[in-house]
Amino acid sequence: MIKKCLFPVAGYGTRFLPATKSMPKEMLPVVNKPLVQYGVEEALAAGLNEICFVTGRGKRSIHDHFDISYELEHQIAGTDKEDYLIEIRKVINSGRFASTRQLEMKGLGHAILTGELLVGNQPFGVILADDLCFNDDIGVMAQLVDIYRRTGSTVVAIQEVEEKDVSKFGIIAGVEEEPGLYRVTDMVEKPAPSEAPSNLAIIGRYVLSPFIFEVLRHTPPGKNGEVQLTDALLTLARTSKVLAYKFKGQRFDCGSVGGFVDATNHVYQNIYLKGRK
Ligand code: UTP
Repeated sequence: MIKKCLFPVAGYGTRFLPATKSMPKEMLPVVNKPLVQYGVEEALAAGLNEICFVTGRGKRSIHDHFDISYELEHQIAGTDKEDYLIEIRKVINSGRFASTRQLEMKGLGHAILTGELLVGNQPFGVILADDLCFNDDIGVMAQLVDIYRRTGSTVVAIQEVEEKDVSKFGIIAGVEEEPGLYRVTDMVEKPAPSEAPSNLAIIGRYVLSPFIFEVLRHTPPGKNGEVQLTDALLTLARTSKVLAYKFKGQRFDCGSVGGFVDATNHVYQNIYLKGRK
């Protein structure tokens, strides 16, 4: 039913300067794999094998990563180094990849609207690769897809955050309809702690109905002069049902240096070392 997953990867990644001066943030490696590959693997595991990138200038290496590198492959063919390419080959063989460019960085909402060309008139997943998520069995995108299949409603992933951190997120207010599943009644982008309607923060995983494009087209720039996805979702919540799900698993904010270091330690200890035993 849902086949496409949109990756808005056009942002400048200023928090990682100078590393991101000529290199996309999404290609920064968490141990031995670029951030964006983790996200694409999560989408594929959820059955979304049409991967759509909304890129910008200087992001070519993302496309190259999901393509064959003939020279390299030829060079290491038949050696034990070939094993390093097993995972990425699997990804390339399981997915289909397309991209379009966001010409100006006018915000996440604008990036998603730019992706309409690739998505068309069907429900789709959205993954922000800098939110790196892990769960032992079912990945976070698969959890959302499951809820969409059951309810037919737009659904966003949320987690509880400390009060001092609410101003970094879109925050929802909602009515809990099932354990961990809320019907959204309000949403505020990056509120001051005194204005936050709860401590339930939206993270970078969504399953959206294509109607969101129509709403985004009419959403004026909001916080920071950017077209905010949160504003469009609130408009949607007022006319139809929007759900928010307290996902199962762990999330690392790899858009910040501290979160990136935490993720690196987690992957090294819990995934990389275990895989080598
Ligand atoms: P961020 O707010 O993390 O912005 O965007 P950023 O530019 O990537 O990073 P900083 O804040 O400068 O360090 C959240 C997500 O939305 C995408 C980003 O690529 C990131 O995945 N995005 C944001 C776009 O694709 N286009 C935009 O205009 C804005």
